[in-house]
Amino acid sequence: MRHDVKDLRLAKAGQQRIEWAGNQMPVLDQIRRRFLKEKPLKGQRLSVCLHVTTETANLAIALRDGGAQVVVCASNPLSTQDDVAAALVDRYGADVYAINGEDNDSYYGHIYAAVDRHPQVTMDDGADVVGVLHGERSEQLSELIGGTEETTTGVIRLKALEAEGKLGYPILAVNDAKTKHFFDNRYGTGQSTLDGVIRATNVLIAGSRVVVIGYGWCGRGVAMRAKGLGAHVIVCEVDPLRALEALMDGFEVMPAVEAAKVGDIFISVTGDRDAIAGHMFRSRSSRCAPSSRAIGPRTGGRSSCSPTGDW
Ligand SMILES: NC(=O)c1ccc[n+]([C@@H]2O[C@H](COP(=O)([O-])OP(=O)(O)OC[C@H]3O[C@@H](n4cnc5c(N)ncnc54)[C@H](O)[C@@H]3O)[C@@H](O)[C@H]2O)c1
Repeated sequence: MRHDVKDLRLAKAGQQRIEWAGNQMPVLDQIRRRFLKEKPLKGQRLSVCLHVTTETANLAIALRDGGAQVVVCASNPLSTQDDVAAALVDRYGADVYAINGEDNDSYYGHIYAAVDRHPQVTMDDGADVVGVLHGERSEQLSELIGGTEETTTGVIRLKALEAEGKLGYPILAVNDAKTKHFFDNRYGTGQSTLDGVIRATNVLIAGSRVVVIGYGWCGRGVAMRAKGLGAHVIVCEVDPLRALEALMDGFEVMPAVEAAKVGDIFISVTGDRDAIAGHMFRSRSSRCAPSSRAIGPRTGGRSSCSPTGDW
């Protein structure tokens, strides 16, 4: 089977949205046009494990136009846009394995399907393909030329592999680029996290006490946007310097167990699965407002999920 998507009849809507996003991506379009002429990736096998969204679709199209054989799978089971996945298959001839809301078995089945293509280059967002290639499929490591890793947590996993002397091929840490974490993490995730919370809960942010756990690149963005929407923002951060920074940026700062007693909306932007733990809320009364965990727990293997799925 060359693809596994929800419904190919969604392709038309997906194509329209891919084209819309493409119009906002002029740099990629320039690269794609050069790729069309030069075919720098001719014959290369690429396994792309990213959020299956309109932006990734445009990236996959550019890589294909560069001559690569591209297979796409999801880096998050809840972020897949089914119409985009359908369009990639039906309108752009890509091989896609991704279905929104898929369970753990399907999610990993799709990652294995991408690894089955014997990639020479991998593109990861959370290091799930890399994890498989360094585990059950380690015999394929010698076929790899290189890869990319998008996100903070994936880079942490790669650095751990490197420290153990086990990293099997060179991988570019995209997240280390200033143009990534300064902007994508801070402003992109700042916006999309609040967007996800609002869509999922329909709460009014103004007047709410929004607890932001983690004051890294994403946390700064989330806190900034929540404040802009009129929230009273409380920051919880284990790094004392970052906690101080949050304080000086004008936020209330306190331990998460204390924030659990007073917060209305809880957003973990730590990469730590247990930053929001049930025991923290024992003392919370039944008037508890919607609690939302966004971004997140990216541990062990699979990335966590977002209400919008756009992260
Ligand atoms: N979905 C997306 O589009 C997207 C984009 C960028 C990053 N991310 C993910 O978001 C997460 C955060 O990324 P980042 O770039 O902000 O990372 P970061 O390392 O800059 O910040 C994380 C912060 O959380 C703090 N922290 C960790 N555990 C904590 C705990 N239990 N309590 C309080 N504070 C804690 C750390 O001290 C650090 O300051 C990562 O998992 C990353 O992979 C997602």
